[in-house]
Amino acid sequence: MTTTKKTALVTGANKGIGFETARQLAQQGFTVWLGARDRARGEAAAQKLAGEGDVRFVSLDLTDPDSVQAAAAHVSDTTGALDVLVNNAAVALGKEEGPASTISTDTIRRTLDVNFYGTLRVTQAFLPLVQKAPAGRIVNVSSTMGSVSTLVSPGNPLGQYGTSYAYSTSKTIVNALTGQLAVELSDTPIKVNSVCPGYNDTDMNGSTGAGQHPSEGAKVVVRAATIPADGPTGTFFDVSGPVGW
Ligand SMILES: NC(=O)c1ccc[n+]([C@@H]2O[C@H](COP(=O)([O-])OP(=O)(O)OC[C@H]3O[C@@H](n4cnc5c(N)ncnc54)[C@H](OP(=O)(O)O)[C@@H]3O)[C@@H](O)[C@H]2O)c1
Repeated sequence: MTTTKKTALVTGANKGIGFETARQLAQQGFTVWLGARDRARGEAAAQKLAGEGDVRFVSLDLTDPDSVQAAAAHVSDTTGALDVLVNNAAVALGKEEGPASTISTDTIRRTLDVNFYGTLRVTQAFLPLVQKAPAGRIVNVSSTMGSVSTLVSPGNPLGQYGTSYAYSTSKTIVNALTGQLAVELSDTPIKVNSVCPGYNDTDMNGSTGAGQHPSEGAKVVVRAATIPADGPTGTFFDVSGPVGW
């Protein structure tokens, strides 16, 4: 079955920036698949957004190949093509383990399992559906923490955040995926971009009150998800413009 409405999938959308991205896409008239690894949390989040538009829970754990395949089959059977894929779900592990010289390789592996391998797994599973849409958009929610050029710039402006090497490296690799996939798909209408949503108060950083509301971060994500036909592909940007790789 197919639908004439535009369809979007947001991973890790039961809370935080993903939830607000799902809300804003629903408000724009998309049929939104709200991906969540926990059924109760996902169904509750979809229920909260019921008044905003057509929001449907789909069970999706990035680390579980069967879950990802089942989600892709469900979306394919129900709404057919996928106009927008937002790779939002991620974890931030090992902040207390310090920098590259001390962090455990196990923490790096567990981080990459979700942030990189999970993102790649979802992208590969859903790409056939994105290719069925007239002008697909893939958004990788990244972070300036993954920007090597920012990291090595004088004074290391990222040093103040103290985020783990595992997290920042996972986002560097996600950015590499953005570039590679954009080139691979460059002769198609599909656009692939990385965005940094800025510093938002979410569970990921303990909602310290030092950041903006995640609805602000979601606006950058939605901008990339709805980029026009003459917009860029293979780029990395935040609310202020291009971010260095
Ligand atoms: N917050 C910031 O300031 C900030 C800054 C830059 C970039 N980002 C990026 O923005 C995105 C959203 O982060 P956030 O701040 O909104 O974090 P968050 O509130 O912690 O939300 C993360 C989401 O990812 C989900 N998730 C984690 N592991 C998963 C898995 N294996 N399978 C499926 N879903 C999984 C979580 O589900 P559960 O609820 O089940 O754990 C949750 O829904 C991330 O990519 C993050 O790196 C955030």
